[in-house]
This record gives sequence, structure tokens and C-alpha cells, in this order.
Amino acid sequence: MQLLVIGGGGREHALIWKLKQSPRVEKIYCVPGNGGIAELAECLPALAVDGALVGWAVRQGVDLVIIGPEAPLVAGMADEFEAAGLPVFGVCREAARLEGSKSFAKEIMSAAGVSTAAARAFTDLDEAVAYLETGAAPYVVKADGLAAGKGVIIAEDFEAARRAISDCLVDRRFGDAGRQVVIEEFLAGQEVSVLAFVDGKTIKAMPPAQDYKRVGDGDAGPNTGGMGAFAPAPFLDEDGLAGVVTGILEPTIKALARRGIIYKGVLYAGLMLTETGAKVLEFNTRFGDPETEALMPLFDGDLVEVMLSCAQGRLAGVDVPWSTAKSLTVVLASEGYPESPVTGREITGLVEAAKKDVVIFHAGTRLEGGKMLTSGGRVLNVSAVAGSFAEAREKVYEAVKLIKFEGMRYRSDIGIMGRGD
Ligand code: AMP
Ligand code: GLY
Repeated sequence: MQLLVIGGGGREHALIWKLKQSPRVEKIYCVPGNGGIAELAECLPALAVDGALVGWAVRQGVDLVIIGPEAPLVAGMADEFEAAGLPVFGVCREAARLEGSKSFAKEIMSAAGVSTAAARAFTDLDEAVAYLETGAAPYVVKADGLAAGKGVIIAEDFEAARRAISDCLVDRRFGDAGRQVVIEEFLAGQEVSVLAFVDGKTIKAMPPAQDYKRVGDGDAGPNTGGMGAFAPAPFLDEDGLAGVVTGILEPTIKALARRGIIYKGVLYAGLMLTETGAKVLEFNTRFGDPETEALMPLFDGDLVEVMLSCAQGRLAGVDVPWSTAKSLTVVLASEGYPESPVTGREITGLVEAAKKDVVIFHAGTRLEGGKMLTSGGRVLNVSAVAGSFAEAREKVYEAVKLIKFEGMRYRSDIGIMGRGD
């Protein structure tokens, strides 16, 4: 089979690494790809911009299209490939609104009877501030649209919350994504990401994962796209996971189906495990990044078959096996991430690090003149699997020590602090 993968981050590298292990794969194309993906797939950066991707894929005889990031899903890329008769792993435009609009997600959760933080949406500054006055710190202010994981502000006092609202609505700090703000009840507890394969009706959950969103050790600093992750997260046992499937994922898929929206792809619930049960913080309509870089090394099945079965509505009959080992991934990020990452720096030590029983997934890299250069905020993910989180952590940080680029930063506490073991 010939596969086409859309995207060029650590998530897509991890997916391609696993897809490539399937005996059914002859060739993988990736648009746009990155410096690491280029070792496993033919990267076609130019096709990302010329608007002729669907026609190209049809002519090329691509058998399955896999769409990684949220932006093309929200823009309706899955619909376009499907209309051309190609099987697609990735949700349609309407389903992607579950991630693309926080107010739509709240509406679906309410229709589905799914537990989530109480919230209200505003486009008017005065009305938003008046509502804020009825609450108490800490305040949660979110840009309604897509903001690459950075549009959520947890404000410790009223003034900071008011400023966050004004930044969104008046100064348009997040552009159009912040035309509407959502003010939400603050929830305390352990955060867990539950990702599941969905084929329209059948749901098969992956092991729960935990992501580290803040940039610094001890959860200091601003939110990022994610600085590391581990799986399986021990906070949600088998019964707890089954409860999330029946109490959250299934009702959500059904509420969408009642609106004529067939959900095929990955459904990702960002959960807070509160004293009164699991509540949804957000839905994503795709694989998590960096959760995928921790999950894929645990996946023991044929990913091509699983993805194709989702596209074709026959997931119920397909095996989705997982290792019971512990997996961990650490993100190596650029100087200045997340606000203003500095790129174009040479990376060394990758070959030596790869000898350390780890897998290195590239997120923001490009090959130029035989050199591997940084090209984004998140640059690399170093992942390892072992019998315990402590062992996996040791392997990862041993390898990290060998990798170098100017300004490189990473969290040194992934899998510790009462998280992991
Ligand atoms: P989101 O992009 O909605 O997942 O939010 C990013 C991060 O902000 C989450 O991973 C949480 O750590 C935090 N967060 C979001 N909503 C809430 C909430 N209602 N209460 C507490 N923390 C939250
Ligand atoms: N790791 C968070 C996300 O993928 O949105």
C-alpha cells in the first residue's frame, strides 16, 4: 500500500515510524514532513502549498491518507480526500469543530450529558468582565478557536483575568481564534489524556497518557504545545478507562451522530480527574502531541490495518493490542519557546543518542547541506520504553545528554513529582 501522511511534527514522525512496521506498506509520502521523517518517507514540502494535493494523491494511487494536525482537519481536508474516493484516517470538517470551537464542544457535551467545567462564551468585553465578577480565583480564560495549545490562561487574580479577556477580545492576541472568549470554572485534580480510535460507531481507547503542558520544571511558566508525556498514566485504571469510554466518548459520538456528523479518526479527551469524577477540559479531534510519541512505542498491532478499518467502519473486528510496559517521551525545545523560538541551529549527537535504546522522533527539524537544523519550537522527542517509568526515564535522559544544539531546553522532571512512579 501507498500511504500519504499530512503533517510534519513529532506526532507524524511517531505515526510514520509505526506505520512503516506494517508488512502492508510499500511506500509512505509525507507532506510536508521534516528532517527525521525524511529517513522513513518521501517528504514533499512543495505539495503542502500548491493546493493540488488531492489530485496528486489520486494520480499517485495513494491507498490511505492520514491527517495528523488539527488545522487541515478543521479546514475540511478529510472531506476533500473522501470526495475524491480515497480512504482517510481523520475526521471530517463538521466533526473537527469539536476541537476547532470550544463553544461548539460545550454545546455537544451538554447535549451528550458529559461532565465538564461550567463555562460561558462572550464576544463583548463588558459582559465578560461582569461575568468574571460573579466568580472567584483562579480564573480560566480561553480563546474560543485554535491557538496551538497556547490560548488558555489560568489567572491567579481578577486583574490578570480581566487583562487576558481584553488581550483576546480587544487586542486580538490570538487573532480570530480569540474573537470569542470562554470563561470556565477552574478544576483541580490529575490531568489525563484519553485517546481512542473511532470508526463512526466502535470506540477502542488507547492507554491513558499524561502530558506536561507548562514549559518549566515543576509546572512553572506558560502553557506550551507539550513538553513531555508518559503512558500508561496510572491515575486511571482499567475500570476508570472503561468509564471514560461509556460515560464520555460514546455519548459524545452519539450526540454528534444525532446531528448527522459521523466521527471517524481519533477522539482525544483532555480530562481532569476531580474528586467528583472525570470531567472534560477539552476535546481534540486528532492524536495528541507529544502523547503520540509516548503511545506509539507501546502499540503492538498493525497501525495501517487499524487506521484503514476506522476509515472503512470495521474497527470492531480489528485487534488493537498494547504492550503493558511503561513509556516516556521528553521534548527538546528551542531557545525562546513557546513565545518566540529561535531556529536554524545545528543539531549534533543524534547518531550517538540513538544507540541508547531510545527512539528519537523529530518535531521541528530540517536537513540542509547534510546538516540537521532546528526549524521550530519543539525540535525533538526522545522516547523510551522499559519495565518501569524510572528505567524509561533513565534511558531517555542518558540519550538527551548526548544531543546538542545552541539554546536547547527541556524539562528534567518528566515522569516524576508524584506523576508516573
Ligand atoms: P486546554 O488547551 O483546554 O487543554 O487547556 C490547556 C491547559 O490548561 C490544560 O491542560 C489544563 O492544564 C489547563 N486548564 C484548562 N482548563 C482548565 C480548567 N477548567 N481548570 C483547570 N485547569 C484548566
Ligand atoms: N498534548 C496536547 C495536545 O496535543 O493538544
